[in-house]
Amino acid sequence: MNASEDSVRAGVSGDLADPIFWRAGAIATTVVMLIMLAFLTIDSYRYISAGGINVPKYDVINQQIGYQYDWSRHADVPVIGGSQPMFGHTVTQAQAAELIRQGKSVIQSRACMDCHTFFGNGAYYGPDLTKSWLDPAWRQIWMPMTGKATREDAMVEFLMHPDKYPTWNRRMPNLHLSEAEARATVAYLKWTSAVDTNGFPANFGQVVRQP
Ligand code: HEC
Repeated sequence: MNASEDSVRAGVSGDLADPIFWRAGAIATTVVMLIMLAFLTIDSYRYISAGGINVPKYDVINQQIGYQYDWSRHADVPVIGGSQPMFGHTVTQAQAAELIRQGKSVIQSRACMDCHTFFGNGAYYGPDLTKSWLDPAWRQIWMPMTGKATREDAMVEFLMHPDKYPTWNRRMPNLHLSEAEARATVAYLKWTSAVDTNGFPANFGQVVRQP
């Protein structure tokens, strides 16, 4: 007994029993989905690449970064302000890209995400670092504690000796970052704080709005 006899018995019309019909359907669906995938991939790049819709260019680290609640979007969004170079030096686009690349490689090589989260990936043993640059604790706690006059200097000092400046019951171990590594990490953190994450992590803005 062949397939068509089977389907005649089951009352299925000839077209549906024909394997060519199903093969053509599978091929057509795969082709349409591949086109969709290509479109969505290209479209995502418009949002997620540096200089894209949600992600600023690397040299945004030369500017002031604020964080404000946007009532129309019901989310906290970064506000890029005037000039505020890190460590007192304005960097070029290429220098900023290189610093941020180094910072990212420090973060990857030291497995900071075993304890911390970036953009929803990682662990919650330590604070979420996506918007850490904007944390009021740098000004309120770590600048006085480290005796440093700027946020970036306090961050470098903390990253090089986190065991010396604890602020709560969970401690960050000393990962022996060099000063250059710590500076690059701070550049990376300043850049991620300027990324429009649609208000993620939630409620971080409320923390920022406290006096
Ligand atoms: C073993 C877990 C652990 C690892 C690994 C770790 N941290 Fe931490 N980190 C913590 C904890 C816990 C705190 C909170 C410390 C405190 O406030 O006293 C913290 C705090 C921080 C803060 C301050 C965050 C804020 O806004 O309050 C930064 C920035 C930071 N870590 C960066 C890093 C980087 C960069 C790495 C990798 C080079 C790293 N951490 C690796 C546990 C860790």
